[in-house]
Amino acid sequence: MTTIISVPPVRARASVRALISHTLTNRNMSSMSTYWSPTGEGNGSHTKEKPTETTSTAKQEGGEQEIDPWSVKGGADGKIDYDALLTKWGCQQIDKELIERVEKLTGVPAHPLLARGVFFAHRDLKALLDAYEKDPKSFYLYTGRGPSSESLHLGHLIPFMFTKYLQEAFKVPLVIQLTDDEKCIWKGISIEESRRLAFENAKDIIACGFDKRNTFIFNDFDYVGGMFYQNMVSIAKCVTFNQAKGIFGFKFEDPIAKIAFPPVQAAPSFPDSFPHLFGKGKKLRCLIPCAIDQDPYFRMTRDAAPRMGGHKPALIESRFFPSLKGESGKMSASDENSCIYVTDTPKQIKTKINKHAFSGGRETIEDHRLYGGNLDVDISWKYLNFFLEDDAELEQIGKDYSSGAMLTGEIKKKLIEVLQAMVGKHQEARKAVTDDLVKEYFSTETRKVEDLFPRD
Ligand code: TRP
Repeated sequence: MTTIISVPPVRARASVRALISHTLTNRNMSSMSTYWSPTGEGNGSHTKEKPTETTSTAKQEGGEQEIDPWSVKGGADGKIDYDALLTKWGCQQIDKELIERVEKLTGVPAHPLLARGVFFAHRDLKALLDAYEKDPKSFYLYTGRGPSSESLHLGHLIPFMFTKYLQEAFKVPLVIQLTDDEKCIWKGISIEESRRLAFENAKDIIACGFDKRNTFIFNDFDYVGGMFYQNMVSIAKCVTFNQAKGIFGFKFEDPIAKIAFPPVQAAPSFPDSFPHLFGKGKKLRCLIPCAIDQDPYFRMTRDAAPRMGGHKPALIESRFFPSLKGESGKMSASDENSCIYVTDTPKQIKTKINKHAFSGGRETIEDHRLYGGNLDVDISWKYLNFFLEDDAELEQIGKDYSSGAMLTGEIKKKLIEVLQAMVGKHQEARKAVTDDLVKEYFSTETRKVEDLFPRD
């Protein structure tokens, strides 16, 4: 599918950023001012890494939110407190200055998902950019997906849309891990079925438009071995069971398959896990775009990195994509009406949005005209923030809907149009992905440096 990379010039977007970042967050005013403070770095409480955090939960007033790579549960009000998460886990916020630096270094406007604060947190992004400034061949990208379902929903597309932008903007290679083993272990899917889902999902990922010259896709069940396995064991040697228990919340009754898995997701952070791409040595750096629930894996990895003789991977992390039914964590693939799938027909999209998209509109038209829609909870507005490219149009919709000039039916109509077009394009692109093309992405043939870091 085509992604939202053609965006208006940087300057035109400045005003819309503040508006959108406000509505996309669950954060209170004090943290808002932290995000947009002129110094940019916030209050400093997010600058320290806490790699050996003893619990994976982050406390929220009136309730405990529980976030780990396998489940996301909001606090008492069902919402995610991202500030608490950053403080607890020791990630840093992405500020305006950092976004501008990315724009300057790449020469292209920041992707809306970055400019609008969806990708909002990072680890060591500055050091990575410093290295890139000196040498544009200094890092590669790594992302992944656990193939737990036949078809992807819109939330699954977000990291891939964003990664495609990063790949094009920085002109660097990308590895995509399909953790069929992870899903086999956690979801009770058979090995054969998990592998099949990995190949099916690969087609949807390829349909996002990754450059086949410098994108390598692999599934664990078929790729793990050789240097990748050697790195896994070296990582595993650095982590005690106590640490793993603290980071991931493992229990004594868990099968040891779970405990053995984190090094599998950690290994791609080291370039020599891919000798056909990067040869020997750990000189190359790694940048990992992911949703913030994956942070525990990479905290563990970063802790092990110095002892591995490698760089700590840098991270760029996103908020969760909200359910159609309202913002209380991430979308669940098991509740059909909580998400829009990339396989949905235009009619299904329309029905789902009209019937299930949580509305911030008022009870009666009179009240709506009087008080306006509530952008903080309105799912159509939030989804438009993710997928409507045009900043000026988005800003206008925000103004009109919150003032009451625009009605719920109208904002839903706009969202239906946007999503029907986007999903339609994805389906077209998916149709064009043949088995032979998939093989090219999975190929372990040696690739040329000028293909990996294309300058055209
Ligand atoms: N664990 C991820 C999931 O369940 C998949 C994954 C593997 C991943 N490696 C990654 C995600 C790197 C982001 C970055 O979806």
